Amino acid sequence: MVSFFLLLLTQLLEGLSKQSTVSGAAQRFASIPSFNIGISMLVGGPSGLPALLPLLLAAMSFFCSAISIDEARKQLLMREKIMQLGGQLVLKKEEELANERLMALKRAEMRQAMKTQKFPPSMHFFKAKNLIEKSEVFTILKKMPKGAALHVHDGSIVSMDWLVKNVTYRPHCHFCLTPKGTLMFKFAHPTPPTPANCSEWILLEKYRKGLQNVTEFDNSLLRNFTLMTKNPEVTYANQNIVWSKFKTIFITISGLVNYAPVFRDYIFQGLEEFYQDNVFYLELRAILFPVYELNGTIHNQEWSVRTYKEVACVFAKKHPGFIGIKIIYSDHRFKDVSLIMKSVQTAMTLRTRFPRTVAGFDLVGREDTGYSLYYYKEALMIPASQGFKLPYFFHAGETDWQGTSMDRNLLDALILNSTRIGHGFALSKHPAAWTNLWKKDIPIEVCPISNQVLKLVSDLRNHPAAVLMATGYPIVISSDDPAIFGAKGLSYDFYEAFMGFGGMMADLRTLKQLAMNSIKYSALLDIEKKAAMKTWEKRWNNFVADLARRPK
Ligand SMILES: *[C@@H]1O[C@H](CO)[C@@H](O)[C@H](O)[C@H]1NC(C)=O
Ligand SMILES: *[C@@H]1O[C@H](CO)[C@@H](O)[C@H](O)[C@H]1NC(C)=O
Ligand SMILES: *[C@@H]1O[C@H](CO)[C@@H](O)[C@H](O)[C@H]1NC(C)=O
Ligand SMILES: *[C@@H]1O[C@H](CO)[C@@H](O)[C@H](O)[C@H]1NC(C)=O
Ligand SMILES: *[C@@H]1O[C@H](CO)[C@@H](O)[C@H](O)[C@H]1NC(C)=O
Ligand SMILES: *[C@@H]1O[C@H](CO)[C@@H](O)[C@H](O)[C@H]1NC(C)=O
Ligand SMILES: [Zn+2]
Repeated sequence: MVSFFLLLLTQLLEGLSKQSTVSGAAQRFASIPSFNIGISMLVGGPSGLPALLPLLLAAMSFFCSAISIDEARKQLLMREKIMQLGGQLVLKKEEELANERLMALKRAEMRQAMKTQKFPPSMHFFKAKNLIEKSEVFTILKKMPKGAALHVHDGSIVSMDWLVKNVTYRPHCHFCLTPKGTLMFKFAHPTPPTPANCSEWILLEKYRKGLQNVTEFDNSLLRNFTLMTKNPEVTYANQNIVWSKFKTIFITISGLVNYAPVFRDYIFQGLEEFYQDNVFYLELRAILFPVYELNGTIHNQEWSVRTYKEVACVFAKKHPGFIGIKIIYSDHRFKDVSLIMKSVQTAMTLRTRFPRTVAGFDLVGREDTGYSLYYYKEALMIPASQGFKLPYFFHAGETDWQGTSMDRNLLDALILNSTRIGHGFALSKHPAAWTNLWKKDIPIEVCPISNQVLKLVSDLRNHPAAVLMATGYPIVISSDDPAIFGAKGLSYDFYEAFMGFGGMMADLRTLKQLAMNSIKYSALLDIEKKAAMKTWEKRWNNFVADLARRPK
């Protein structure tokens, strides 16, 4: 009798979730908030739920009073399984087989970790990286078609090794040392005059010839380009210290990346790294910093967008299944409002000129020390006041400081109609914003390694996205600035989410939902999404077939 009821309930939920793909708005009620936030919301909900449901719920309470403890916990467990991200997906037979293989490996790794008390998601990524690379689950995640990377920044998509080994070895590359001991780079010929606040320009080609141990020097460059270090807890004692080095890295590498010939190769190489990691589409937050030529010519932002577009096009021709890139034009949140007014206008111009490449606008930089979205309201209302549709993709809630103006960025992002939310780390502290964002089906772009390295949370099992995942809130997983964190593509972040947020509960359904979310919540046009989903599905089926055929 009880299992019959459960079957009924499950079917009802499935039916609702199917409906919801037709009418998106109903979905938020159909899936989780109903069971999470409360029955009253369900019954009183606006989405025209079947009259059957209150009856069923009444029936449930009747049965509940009569059933054993074992049945009661089975029911609770079942409900939580359905609630979690991907919990409503029904796997095909081969997917079930693949899931068994995957979960066997996952359980073995979790058991081992519980024994040794060495669990990568609970450790700092710099210390966990080697362990992750030994994990079989990680090997599978690398092979998994993950869909799209929706939250990555322009200057940190290529392994820093490539900058050292390829870019700094090109002719006419100079560097100088600032009084603080940080580096700056410039390609020029002949050697330009000494800049303010830096030593004279040193030609690398010549400098390396005079060194006894070039490897040692190259390693020192690499240390300038990433946050990686053996003892991160000691090196980065607090958020200020780690952000200070983080910002310095962007300044250091800008002279390398923004040299026109490098700029093109850099984009290509970045797409290559993501493609190798089975990611087929990217939305890049791009500052569109001026790109320069050897003779000093400086290109404008249109040139940069055009170059992104051209390189992605060439890349797609050489890489089957690659879908492309879009640019989210971004400016710094420490500039004053008059400057941001100008960049909002630039964003509008760029979007008009490149409607299929420029997806929208964002403000980047550290929220804790930058201006709030509210401060920029005058600038951010410009498009709406002119009837212009400029989608926003705001970073919001990347903070530990509850109740501050920065923390309220999440509320403002909601009010300003942000299409997605970058990080949303503070979301669980704002239940009203949370509920409204959910109703509007606004996804959170979760970047686990970034949040850990930048010291918002140390043990990723305690990341608030674990709650989002358990309640089935729409999230996507991304990597923010993988190269600076010593990561690559999306797989490391997927590992942290799958093992750390999901624990023993997350399975192939979770992974499938995350991949599908990345396409669903992208800025692709509907017709592009359909094509992308098809491409992804083909790869997914191959991945599942391989995994299912794996020997036990
Ligand atoms: C750097 O990479 C490009 C291709 O991306 C290649 O053509 C070039 O030869 C490489 N240069 C060096 C110095 O390795
Ligand atoms: C350069 O140095 C001057 C004077 O020492 C200082 O005022 C200025 O802020 C510095 N600029 C940069 C970019 O570091
Ligand atoms: C150069 O430095 C590297 C890294 O510090 C070291 O492993 C290597 O042995 C050194 N080579 C020589 C010839 O000293
Ligand atoms: C950056 O590179 C310079 C030049 O080799 C070196 O002196 C400095 O120690 C490096 N910085 C770090 C943090 O390793
Ligand atoms: C500078 O170099 C670029 C790229 O090689 C070239 O297109 C441009 O014409 C040059 N401009 C001048 C003023 O020499
Ligand atoms: C947000 O959407 C509402 C409702 O469509 C609209 O009235 C408002 O102007 C929008 N705000 C912005 C900043 O676009
Ligand atoms: Zn970011």
